[in-house]
Amino acid sequence: MIELVEAETDDFDRSVGDAAIEALAQNGYCVVDGLLNPGLIGSLNAELAALDASGVLAAAAIGREGGRRQAAEIRRAAIHWFDGGTAAERRFLEVAERLRSAINRRLFLGLFDFECNFIAYPTGGFYGRHLDSLSGARNRVVSMVIYLDPGWQAEYGGILRLWESVDEGAGTVEVVPQAGRVVLMMSEEIPHEVLPAHRPRHAVAGWWRVNASTGQRLDTSR
Ligand code: OGA
Ligand code: MN
Repeated sequence: MIELVEAETDDFDRSVGDAAIEALAQNGYCVVDGLLNPGLIGSLNAELAALDASGVLAAAAIGREGGRRQAAEIRRAAIHWFDGGTAAERRFLEVAERLRSAINRRLFLGLFDFECNFIAYPTGGFYGRHLDSLSGARNRVVSMVIYLDPGWQAEYGGILRLWESVDEGAGTVEVVPQAGRVVLMMSEEIPHEVLPAHRPRHAVAGWWRVNASTGQRLDTSR
């Protein structure tokens, strides 16, 4: 985990954050605009473009450890894990840390840790319906997705569709992945999918975790 200094920041709007967390508490998910500084969104987008150009993005797998596999039929996208190595990553991680304590204050979740990655969907990329909490230990508790593409239009595809609960017949919500839009979801309660993108689509996805140690094995990030 990366140590973060407590400092005032204009990288996130506290009142938008408080409203988002209240909606998360009420509904299990929320979709908000204006939470993050647009300059920070632009920096993250530029960093992801540079990573893509340098060829370091890796095909995304699903599952964890023994269950880990490449599953092209479920997900077609490339990822890169944050390591806090750039100013934009550190700024974003500081925002995530502030949100972590605000979520813990409102929902008493005991969130402990945060992991996140860049995601680049190629043209034709998608991610089938899934829950973010991985099978096995209760680890990912709250999910966050941040969209990076300026000027994204509904007709470009790549819509995020979420279900309001795991219940059969649950209502759905469709989110156009416009730059700066943020989705928060309870990782164990909100199934979601990404419909095929008709042009390259860019996002950051992160997860707050509880410290789910099992036996001798401390369940570390990734
Ligand atoms: C994920 C995910 C959604 C998106 O990475 O787990 O669901 O809109 N991403 O990219
Ligand atoms: Mn997901």
